[in-house]
Amino acid sequence: DAVEKGGYEHYMLKEIFEQPEAIRNAIRGRVDVERGTAILSGLGLSPRELVEFQRLLIVGCGTSLNAGLVGEYAVEDFAAMLGEVEQAAEFRYRNPIVGSKDLVVAVSQSGETADTLAAVREAIDKGAMVAGLVNVVGSTIAREAGRGVYLHAGPEISVASTKAFTCQVAVLLLVALKLARGRRMSREVGMGIAGEVLRVPELVEKVLESNAAIADVASHFVGYEHMFYIGRGYLFPVALEGALKIKEISYIHAEAYNAAELKHGPIALLDEKMPVVALLNRGPGQEKTVGNVEECRARKAPVLGVITEGDAEAKAACDRVIEVPECSHYIATIVSTVALQLFAYHVARLRGCAIDQPRNLAKSVTVE
Ligand code: G6P
Repeated sequence: DAVEKGGYEHYMLKEIFEQPEAIRNAIRGRVDVERGTAILSGLGLSPRELVEFQRLLIVGCGTSLNAGLVGEYAVEDFAAMLGEVEQAAEFRYRNPIVGSKDLVVAVSQSGETADTLAAVREAIDKGAMVAGLVNVVGSTIAREAGRGVYLHAGPEISVASTKAFTCQVAVLLLVALKLARGRRMSREVGMGIAGEVLRVPELVEKVLESNAAIADVASHFVGYEHMFYIGRGYLFPVALEGALKIKEISYIHAEAYNAAELKHGPIALLDEKMPVVALLNRGPGQEKTVGNVEECRARKAPVLGVITEGDAEAKAACDRVIEVPECSHYIATIVSTVALQLFAYHVARLRGCAIDQPRNLAKSVTVE
């Protein structure tokens, strides 16, 4: 066991640290910087199909669903194409509107999640083109979808998903780039995005270097029973994933809200016993989230900000911060998530939780 953990105390920590390599593997051979596009031959899409799809519909559960939300934002942002993410568990019970004009992407680490598989079958039945974005080679979803992109993240043992998420996001950004370049995005803009995606492994390495600093920050949040996570735009899925991690492994009750929604109800819960984790990376909407943070602190909620390195203004707005490297917002989805994985890990460790095997959870849920 100790050997398999490669010297790490837990599989989760090992897998967090494997992310630069996992992401390198996930994007290897798939980024064409010169032409400013992505090479995803497993999707088997003709140039005509790239243009004719009217919607990218993403289905998944848990962490994979959170990754899917980044895909939804990216396809709208990059390709000006309708993107939608649906909870796989609900999909077939809603008489879903899906058909031949949709590209459906099923996101699943294991490729065996019963709810996601059922959504795949439903979409195929209704005539959609379905692709799997799966980690486990030869898994049921990969086989039934018949086309797709493998993550190549390597085996994920920890029940709480880490490297699968960041690889899913990286590949979904490439799917969005591919659709965008097949439609109306210019080569120049595409080159910029391709270049950013290639920087991800290095940026993640930088976050990992802050492990000790993040452990120290985490020690100040061990005693709370509730937390809020807030973010806007691309950083909202990061809030969701950060809150999911802390729930799964530390058993702290956490809620993720779009920072803009805070005032429409949840702000009533804020006091000194309710810390707020705010995604404050520099970029669109940042000022507004800083405004929300001020509202939180006025209610005595302790605020932990995930901020861009050297951003003195954002730092001043928070009680404590985790600094991450500067990058575009769509890449911050990966970079800031890694910081929150480490934060959740250390909070759970200091609380003495069974990190790799949280109570009541299974790595793969193959029943409905
Ligand atoms: C389970 C796991 C989650 C995971 C979800 C989807 O609930 O505990 O960590 O995100 O299944 O799994 P999948 O293998 O489809 O990504």
